[in-house]
Amino acid sequence: MPFKRSEFPEGFVFSAATSAYQIEGHGFGGAGLTHWDTFAATPGNVVRGEHGQRACDHYHRYEEDLDLARDMGLDAYRFSTSWARVMPEGRGAANPEGLDFYDRLVDAMLARDLKPQATLYHWELPVALADLGGWRNPDMPNWFADYTETIMGRIGDRVFSCAPVNEPWCVGWLSHFMGHHAPGLRDIRATAHAMHHILVSHGRAIEVMRGLGMGNLGAVCNFEFAQPVDDSPAAAQAARIYDGYYNRFFLGALYHGSYPEDIIDVLAPHMPHGWQDDFTTIQAPLDWQGLNYYTRKIIAPADGPWPALKEVDGPLPRTQMGWEVYPDGLHHFLTWVDRTYTKGLPLYVTENGMANADVVGRDDAERLDYVAQHLAATRRAIDEGAPVAGYTFWSLLDNYEWALGYEKRFGLVHVDFDTLERTPKASYHAIARALAE
Ligand code: FCB
Repeated sequence: MPFKRSEFPEGFVFSAATSAYQIEGHGFGGAGLTHWDTFAATPGNVVRGEHGQRACDHYHRYEEDLDLARDMGLDAYRFSTSWARVMPEGRGAANPEGLDFYDRLVDAMLARDLKPQATLYHWELPVALADLGGWRNPDMPNWFADYTETIMGRIGDRVFSCAPVNEPWCVGWLSHFMGHHAPGLRDIRATAHAMHHILVSHGRAIEVMRGLGMGNLGAVCNFEFAQPVDDSPAAAQAARIYDGYYNRFFLGALYHGSYPEDIIDVLAPHMPHGWQDDFTTIQAPLDWQGLNYYTRKIIAPADGPWPALKEVDGPLPRTQMGWEVYPDGLHHFLTWVDRTYTKGLPLYVTENGMANADVVGRDDAERLDYVAQHLAATRRAIDEGAPVAGYTFWSLLDNYEWALGYEKRFGLVHVDFDTLERTPKASYHAIARALAE
């Protein structure tokens, strides 16, 4: 048994996550093109140029997929709605087929006793908005508010919870500073603008949803433990900067109403006009905080302009992503976030899991071990007083792993991307047994 349900507090919510572009099949149902389609169509951005136009065809197979979630014994299902499916041009007219789809999807969850945990933006920006500068554009919060009103006006009465933006760090830094995700920019000014506009958009969406009478609203951030490569002050400083723009930037804004000094000192000249006045919006009160956690990074100083650091290989066992398995990091973040920022607000582990080169019929003992270790770390944090209210497996299905295409398999259920056949993995069955206990 990888874990026992009875070891977790009463009412603890176990769920599995997916996201719209990674599974739905964006070629179906009148969805507009997204910046992931154009990013993937440009050589060198995505492995084999793979995109999400068909993906897992969840758009047509969602009943079967939700049966799998129910049969696993999950309490909830974390999904996202696609902006480009709901509003193909990003603004203006809604796509009735898209709204109908999410309406059916939410009802299908409820029919299976799965609590719908919604996310409004898991990265598929409509191309019409990308043409206008995407997250760099100061009008994004208004457009995002309109989109929020449109989709939550339809399904907001039935969702269990909602977070506006999945992983602001990935949307901001990974996509505008490192260029690894759409729109593939490598520009400090674009990054500063995007990171700030994401937070303002988050706040506006929370306001809109409160106005619709919705509750149980939160934020989902991702975290990586920054381990200095050695004992030198230079390594400590490099790791501190990494921790700053990765782990402290967004929480600082959401809970302290300010950006961490060591980071904003550098970014200030690149911030959008009047950014200091936006914290009331950004700090719209939340009901919970979500943490996505996968790994740590070993950080070393490097030559070159700020942030003047680099990642180096560490000694721990790795997943198919090349990510070290480091469950202590999850324990660290659950206790640190509670102590430093959220102070008693319920915390959810909103994503955790590992990729493996899974083949049907072969055991995936590594995944089960990964899950067991991270759930043990979660339990340790709970024992020390962290108010953790739920844990979400990433992912229900093998899916489109962004720039790495379909090769990296995070699913508890194997998907054959030729036939689209779903086959639960050994970890799925073991977790189902643990949840049934
Ligand atoms: C997270 C993303 C999710 C998936 C996992 C592996 O950063 O939220 O879509 O890519 O990583």
